[in-house]
Amino acid sequence: MVDIHSHILYGIDDGAKTIEDSLAMLEIARQSGTTDIVATPHANLHFAFDIHKVEALVQELRAHVGQTIGIHRGCDFHLHYDNILSCMQDHRPYTIDGNGYLMVEFAETSIPDSIGGVLLEMAGRGITPVITHPERNAHLMGRADQLMEWVRGGALIQVTAGSFTGLFGDRARENCRKLIERKLVHFIASDAHDRQHRPPDMCPAYETIAAEYGTAVATLLFETNPRKAITGETIEIEDPAPAAPRKAWYQLW
Ligand SMILES: [Fe+2]
Repeated sequence: MVDIHSHILYGIDDGAKTIEDSLAMLEIARQSGTTDIVATPHANLHFAFDIHKVEALVQELRAHVGQTIGIHRGCDFHLHYDNILSCMQDHRPYTIDGNGYLMVEFAETSIPDSIGGVLLEMAGRGITPVITHPERNAHLMGRADQLMEWVRGGALIQVTAGSFTGLFGDRARENCRKLIERKLVHFIASDAHDRQHRPPDMCPAYETIAAEYGTAVATLLFETNPRKAITGETIEIEDPAPAAPRKAWYQLW
């Protein structure tokens, strides 16, 4: 498996705190069948993003783990004005290994209407925005048709492995099914933050998805698509499916 979303770099955000945490998380990932993992520290109003620091930490961890697991760099990119401006000028510090795939995090409080335009503009500049964990964001789930339009405009969607197995509650688990059934999931990643509560072990989610949707779907979401995001290859996707007719007025979709 290839994990494109994790907070394994120590001391720079709310993920790993010490180098021991980082190394333990890498070992958990390796043991659970992950061959490559992308370190995506936050770039938001709480945690400043420093590409030089990120690269130095990646080098340091690589020196410890050798060839046992591949470590790549990326960013958990919050869509605020300064970030967007900086990324439009040069996306390489923010995208996965500088290859154009950008992990994009939405605010949980509100989503400005202009965001669709920003995503389109990014796509026009060779950036593929990857919308992270919409299943955990009530605002995004309330705008499922907009998600579909953004995907048609070039964005992709990543769901958190733990959401499939209930780590984030029943609502998030249900939302995962809705997204996958509408062909609105392109990656599954751990979004690991530590070694205990949110570890980078994607095995349970892989097994759940393989059992429910078949191994071809699991392989696509855990391996084929994420590997292309690392190498910068184009990912071909199926057209998202429109929502089924609502059964009750209070259903969002
Ligand atoms: Fe994250």
